[in-house]
Amino acid sequence: MNEEMIKINEAASYIRAHITIQPEIAIILGSGLGPLGDEIENPTIIDYKDIPHFPVSTVVGHAGKLIAGTLSGRPVLAMQGRFHYYEGHEMNVVTRPVRVFAKLGIHYLIVTNAAGGIKEDLNPGTIALITDHLSYMCPSPLRGENLDEFGPRFKDMTEVYSQALGKIAKEAAQELNISLGEGVYAYFRGPQYESPAEIRGIRAVGADMVGMSTVPEAIVARHCDMETLGLSLITNKAAGLSKEELSHTEVTAIAKQQETNMVALAKRIIAKWPK
Ligand code: HPA
Repeated sequence: MNEEMIKINEAASYIRAHITIQPEIAIILGSGLGPLGDEIENPTIIDYKDIPHFPVSTVVGHAGKLIAGTLSGRPVLAMQGRFHYYEGHEMNVVTRPVRVFAKLGIHYLIVTNAAGGIKEDLNPGTIALITDHLSYMCPSPLRGENLDEFGPRFKDMTEVYSQALGKIAKEAAQELNISLGEGVYAYFRGPQYESPAEIRGIRAVGADMVGMSTVPEAIVARHCDMETLGLSLITNKAAGLSKEELSHTEVTAIAKQQETNMVALAKRIIAKWPK
């Protein structure tokens, strides 16, 4: 068997043996968005370090815990802390948890991240629905031997972010009086923030926001035929669009300020999730 497939199977078996629910929705929590994980009821918590072939996340603001339990009455499995290419992981490692989720029979994925706003109305503090992405800067997580068990060699990427789930997110936001932005998320590898010229360039080809995560996981989820909802919390204007220097401290501070809204929105979305 393919080496990666063995690792995925071993990680999935370990998790299956340690949780008592069948999760329906997997959630990946980005920078400073971890608090949603603390809202999970009847939680079973597994440290990444105990899961075979799971790396540990090294980023400040990212815990390293997998939490199984219920949120708004639905069984979920949440990652408090994710893996990034800039930490030195290869893309198969960055996206391994998504394939583990697919192995566990999970069909839905919610991905969250902190992002820089490019489009005019995407200002710090805004929550935005990801409608599509630009993966030009992203080494493909599907490169190498195709894992046929999950999907085909050449996979369609027309609807990486489910329109049906996006509609539910918009309705949930409206019910809560949260103004939900939307846009195309452009991936950059990081860890350095982008240069102003990079932002002008990516804006010219249709980017509305920018960040260093999410796209690899979303591509792999689509390859597995999972349905994905993506939410970005805009923590800053992208490079060159404001006078401020970009800093991770600022990014996590804004994420913290918006924590309550983000948690409320995610819970409402899950309450309205398709059965
Ligand atoms: N660029 C990349 N990643 C980010 C940003 C940004 O401006 N803000 C938060 N994460």
